[in-house]
Amino acid sequence: MKNLQWQLKAHPTADETVGVQHFNLVEKEVVAPGPNELLVRTLVLGTSPAQRAYTIENPRFHESLKIGDVMRGRGIGVVEKSNHPDFAVGDWVAGSLGWQQYSIQKIGLGPKGTVDVLSVQKVDDSIRPSSLHLGALGNAGYAALYGMEDVGQVSAGKTVVISAAAGGVGCMAGQIAKAHEARAIGIAGGPDKCDWLCQQAGFDAAIDYKNEDVAEALDRLCPDGIDIFFDNVGGPILDIVLQRLAMGSRVVLCGLIATEYLTERPPGPAYYSELLYKRARMEGYVIWDQVRRYPAFQAKLKAWYDQQLIKPLDDISVGIETVPDALSSLFKGGNTGIRLVRVSEDD
Ligand SMILES: NC(=O)c1ccc[n+]([C@@H]2O[C@H](COP(=O)([O-])OP(=O)(O)OC[C@H]3O[C@@H](n4cnc5c(N)ncnc54)[C@H](OP(=O)(O)O)[C@@H]3O)[C@@H](O)[C@H]2O)c1
Repeated sequence: MKNLQWQLKAHPTADETVGVQHFNLVEKEVVAPGPNELLVRTLVLGTSPAQRAYTIENPRFHESLKIGDVMRGRGIGVVEKSNHPDFAVGDWVAGSLGWQQYSIQKIGLGPKGTVDVLSVQKVDDSIRPSSLHLGALGNAGYAALYGMEDVGQVSAGKTVVISAAAGGVGCMAGQIAKAHEARAIGIAGGPDKCDWLCQQAGFDAAIDYKNEDVAEALDRLCPDGIDIFFDNVGGPILDIVLQRLAMGSRVVLCGLIATEYLTERPPGPAYYSELLYKRARMEGYVIWDQVRRYPAFQAKLKAWYDQQLIKPLDDISVGIETVPDALSSLFKGGNTGIRLVRVSEDD
């Protein structure tokens, strides 16, 4: 059997968007799993702006890939061969499968002899399609849920503003805010994304930051201030929102896509003094720190999904060939919803 995989060809320079030019598509033979190993066929791969950090030469908090390494990426797969007693052929697993059709997964042992948290983990294959385990009931949902509940402390009646709202985490954050009966206002690039936010994702209002005056729109839509700002972007939009915080508000620092890859440090935020005047709190988080809570996050999201309070808003391309373009689309606003890649069909 053949295995198509994307290997790193060149590190993007500091100001370069990662794309297909940085990878080689290589055909390899599928190898047999060794002791305590599984052969896993990839079903679906996720994307995240954070993946760019794996490809650059000196990332700040990820381990860098070397030229020729298989590109790292989280996915859902099905076990094709198992040399580990806890996994059977046909089981679905989640983990770092990489940008490839097949992978060998070594199962490590945790402190109590259970499957180590860094190994692939079994997922419930009654929750279908498999894309749900990366999207609404997976990583996008987990990042949105933890940020909105634990960090943002959302509750009914609060005014919530979300940046990059038509992206994967953003559209889940808005749906979760609505499930809590809060008011959700999204900021996104372009009229089509804003219509989609209100008509498909259930937001109360949307602001097109590319064509509208964001400050004027927030003054109109949030006359009593903003209780929770769920920020995926940073930069100038953060400064505009800081000036409009309500008393006792929270700024949830989920992502920094507007500033993370600048070659020079950005000047702001100029209005961080508002955190003091408004007795507000700004807090960042990394969802991986909560990996042991993933099953509880999924159970909560699944209950909302069954009640039709949240829905999967996926933006899926088909074929392993499409993964580099899927990742680079995030930096160009080319996605609407949760950007995923279908690599092979669910059985
Ligand atoms: N803290 C965590 O644990 C955690 C976990 C997952 C993701 N994240 C972060 O959450 C954010 C969203 O991730 P995602 O995977 O769901 O990606 P995404 O939102 O689906 O894709 C990124 C979106 O950001 C917007 N964007 C790109 N460049 C921008 C810029 N310069 N200014 C303003 N908006 C820009 C684009 O939408 P427009 O067309 O609207 O511009 C694009 O669609 C990212 O910052 C990511 O790093 C954090």
